[in-house]
Amino acid sequence: MCGIVAYIGNRQCRKILLDGLKRLEYRGYDSAGIGILVHDNAMQTSGSNNGSKAAISIVKEAGKISELEAKLDGNGLDGTTGIGHTRWATHGVPNQANSHPHTDCSGEIAVVHNGIIENYAEIKEDLSAKGHIFLSETDTEVLPHLLEDYMKNETGGDLLIAMQKLLRKIRGSGAIVVMSASSQDELIAGRIASPLIVGISKEGNFFASDMPAVLEHTHNFIVINDFETVRITKDSVEIYDIDGNTLHREPFKVNWSMESAEKSGYEDFMLKEMFEQPYGIRETMRGRLSGSELNFDEINLSDTQIKKLKKIQIIACGTSYHAALTGKLIIEKWAKIPVEVDIGSEYRYRDPIIDENVLFIAITQSGETIDTLAAIKEARLKGAKVLAITNIVGSTAARESDSVVYTHAGPEIGVCATKTFTAQLMVMYLIGLYLARARGAMDNSMFSKILNELDIIPNKVQKILNNAPKIKRIADETYRYTCFLFLGRIFGFPMALEGALKLKEISYIHAEGYAAGEMKHGPIALTDTKTVVVGVIPRDHVYEKMLSNLQEVKARHARLFALVTEGDSNTGKYADYIFELPNTIEELYGILAVVPLQLYAYYIAKNHGRNVDQPRNLAKSVTVE
Ligand code: AGP
Ligand code: GLU
Repeated sequence: MCGIVAYIGNRQCRKILLDGLKRLEYRGYDSAGIGILVHDNAMQTSGSNNGSKAAISIVKEAGKISELEAKLDGNGLDGTTGIGHTRWATHGVPNQANSHPHTDCSGEIAVVHNGIIENYAEIKEDLSAKGHIFLSETDTEVLPHLLEDYMKNETGGDLLIAMQKLLRKIRGSGAIVVMSASSQDELIAGRIASPLIVGISKEGNFFASDMPAVLEHTHNFIVINDFETVRITKDSVEIYDIDGNTLHREPFKVNWSMESAEKSGYEDFMLKEMFEQPYGIRETMRGRLSGSELNFDEINLSDTQIKKLKKIQIIACGTSYHAALTGKLIIEKWAKIPVEVDIGSEYRYRDPIIDENVLFIAITQSGETIDTLAAIKEARLKGAKVLAITNIVGSTAARESDSVVYTHAGPEIGVCATKTFTAQLMVMYLIGLYLARARGAMDNSMFSKILNELDIIPNKVQKILNNAPKIKRIADETYRYTCFLFLGRIFGFPMALEGALKLKEISYIHAEGYAAGEMKHGPIALTDTKTVVVGVIPRDHVYEKMLSNLQEVKARHARLFALVTEGDSNTGKYADYIFELPNTIEELYGILAVVPLQLYAYYIAKNHGRNVDQPRNLAKSVTVE
């Protein structure tokens, strides 16, 4: 999910495309490319495209847009129709061949795409059998080839109908924009689950994945919905449903500044990213969980190797460490494999016992955390197989491990990890299930029950986000307190740690996360009228114990804010504030509970006027010891 900008109109588009891509740079990307329709010179200077022969010329490069510009330097490439892309790799490392645009065999069709094509492997196989040759490792490349195939064999050369067929064929997510040398006066687009807008101006029309890309040319937009296709020409916009029926939609005008457009109208990137969590979680499940099937070839271990595993060792730092703690609970419970969890910076200086029957998992959203990388090196030296879980394709952790599972949370700009964390939790659940299955440790009914529940978790996260104003009210009433204790048990404990970390990071208020049963061993001495205790108390098998722990702090005059399961009428008798979590399976409460905790930290920090996107003293990737 990165950036798209496309233009058709009266103006030369090279600069429009490059400027538009630069406007999307803040989102993070790893490669960039443009494709421009080039007409034969005589026709181009006469200002008419009609009947002229055209070809698509593509320039693309791994790395920054400045590198693409350097490549374009001295190259007179320009024209009035073009597409541009910044890639944030999901399938295939960031290199030139994998950058977009991608073309069909003839080079007549060029495509840019944001998202993931889940069934690309089977489509690729079918098309290869028909003689199509592929030049990249991406999922995207099947799109131009599929369009070519449809146009040749099924739609009589009609690109729009081919796009409608394509949307029916692919599974996954995509904002897809296509340019064709044989239908030069139009650009065609289609969308499933990834953002796509049309920008309208007197001088021509645009496609973009996000408004900032074209905001300097127009403030008039139309939003495209799932399974819709669009044809734009230099002076018209036609929208169709998947059956080819015309849809009428009026453009709307936005008065956003560039800055607020970058944040899609949210006040901060952190807020935007928290609200993107249902999407990030769903993207992370994509291709791995379909119907009653769990596909996880990326783990790259045979069932026999999995059965032989004696231990799993997980390494991570910070927020990723909290995902690791959840991983331990899940894997031990579901797959019955002992799991040890270490903080990267500790692990590297102790003398761990590790051999080839230990699966080593490193969790790092950035893939660049030095302490985690050092641990990966050490484990591989000792003969362990290393599986990296990261959000960044081609990162050092991905390159230096035996196998990689990517979280597909999309680029995270706020220093505070939010959507990458819930994506990591989802990967932990999926890995736990996969290992349990391979070892025969879980019966079918439990397996399907969990799969079904995972499938609807994004909706439950959305429900929590819809209730954000309630969290804000609680934060508004409690932000002046100076001591915050976050308590949880079992699956709630890593979330208590994460809630405290979030609050510390962005509000600079002292906060601690504790296993609730530990309170009486020390921290309870802290509780008085100046303390807020945040308790994670879902309806699970330690509910009663947790309730007693919360009553203990209440008796010592702390303010009590409890996260409860909906319908729990009991905890509210003791708590000053409650927030309800949708009901789920005991093991999955973590991914729900952390969302209100993130929001709570956010609203407290905002009350203190903090810069939540760039908190003091912190960096997005910690590349020093
Ligand atoms: C999270 O909000 C923090 N900024 C930090 O703890 C982070 O999780 C830690 O530095 C690990 O980063 P990684 O996942 O990129 O390895
Ligand atoms: N899945 C595509 C790729 O890896 C698109 C990634 C993106 O959204 O930038 O090339």
